[in-house]
Amino acid sequence: MKKMTGSRVFVFLMVATALLSVCHGGVLRKKFYRKTCPSAETIVQDITWKRVANNPELVAKFLRMHFHDCFVRGCDASILINSTASNTAEKDSPANLSLAGFEVLEEIKSALENACPNTVSCADILTLATRDAVSFQFKKPLWEVLTGRRDGRVSLASDIPANLPSPFSNFTTLKSGFSNKGLTVHDLVVLSGGHTIGLAHCNTFSPRLYNFTGKGDQDPSLDPSYATFLKGICSPTDSTTTVEMDQGSGTNFDSGYFTGLTKNKGLFVSDAALLTNKGARNIVNELTIQADFFTEFGQSMKRMGAIDVLTGTAGEIRKVCGKIN
Ligand code: HEM
Ligand SMILES: *[C@@H]1O[C@H](CO)[C@@H](O)[C@H](O)[C@H]1NC(C)=O
Ligand SMILES: *[C@@H]1O[C@H](CO)[C@@H](O)[C@H](O)[C@H]1NC(C)=O
Ligand SMILES: *[C@@H]1O[C@H](CO)[C@@H](O)[C@H](O)[C@H]1NC(C)=O
Ligand SMILES: *[C@@H]1O[C@H](CO)[C@@H](O)[C@H](O)[C@H]1NC(C)=O
Repeated sequence: MKKMTGSRVFVFLMVATALLSVCHGGVLRKKFYRKTCPSAETIVQDITWKRVANNPELVAKFLRMHFHDCFVRGCDASILINSTASNTAEKDSPANLSLAGFEVLEEIKSALENACPNTVSCADILTLATRDAVSFQFKKPLWEVLTGRRDGRVSLASDIPANLPSPFSNFTTLKSGFSNKGLTVHDLVVLSGGHTIGLAHCNTFSPRLYNFTGKGDQDPSLDPSYATFLKGICSPTDSTTTVEMDQGSGTNFDSGYFTGLTKNKGLFVSDAALLTNKGARNIVNELTIQADFFTEFGQSMKRMGAIDVLTGTAGEIRKVCGKIN
């Protein structure tokens, strides 16, 4: 075999490193806009904190929006694109129940276009704003966000069913849905902790109360007194009323979701499913310790925020988040 020359070895190593970092979403980096838009992260935080202060529900809106964005075509802000006459976009899928906060992201985008035109992607704005919204309660960033994402040019409502898990999913389906995105069972349990804030519509769980197996029965894995409480709020056909997922602390980012879950008070079938697997159940128990949940949540959010990202010259930097250029 011929020996590689020094420069060939160098080129080989460069290519190998580049390939490796693409595969691991490693081309995202800390403070990607340090030179091109030094105020970017401050602008996102200022506007997000101002809006969250007046509207605490925005925290849950952003968190869920970021999850939906990343699971469908990667974190490319495809969730923000409006439908057109010829295209039904992701945000107009039936699974979009209660997505909101789009106008705040446009406000941030417009401030950033004033400060540094054509530079900061909507995908990075959504990722940063989500971190900042969750962190508002602590007045300091709860995890580090790597940046350098670019915006996608495709958004299809028809992509949703195959990529977003349903609240009636069992453990096997949840595990493979997360695995398809490069996420582990550990990430699945940790990220389900997002349900420690926010609201759910009655129809996303009411079959558990009224007709679990089609025999007019109740889900035996749901705490009976919690079921009675929920029946007092949701009639069998109600699809408009909403309920806090972490009863009594739905705007507080804490480990309440996990303590509730250990008492069989997870709201969805997909929440309760985390107790049906021994490994997952052990993680649920660990995450009732709040400090552990916070640490693990930041790490899993970083991984979720790197799913199938567009970087380099892929995609585009949108001028407004609701429309491709
Ligand atoms: C594990 C699979 C998951 C399923 C099946 C699921 C399903 C749902 C459903 C059905 C709702 C209620 C929507 C409504 O009725 O308006 C909801 C709400 C929510 N989800 Fe998930 N979710 C999952 C994972 C996640 C993840 C990974 C996050 C973020 C880390 C997240 C964050 C949220 C938040 C914050 C809300 C509340 C939204 C609001 O208040 O408007 N979910 N989820
Ligand atoms: C959700 O989709 C429906 C159509 O299926 C649409 O009427 C509604 O405006 C969408 N909601 C949001 C928040 O985009
Ligand atoms: C989980 O749900 C899937 C899809 O509905 C189904 O095919 C599968 O049999 C279920 N698995 C278990 C263990 O119940
Ligand atoms: C329960 O589900 C079964 C099977 O889907 C259906 O035939 C029945 O009408 C339902 N009962 C109620 C009370 O909704
Ligand atoms: C997207 O649709 C929303 C709601 O219909 C509208 O307020 C917004 O201006 C639209 N954005 C763009 C960029 O067209």
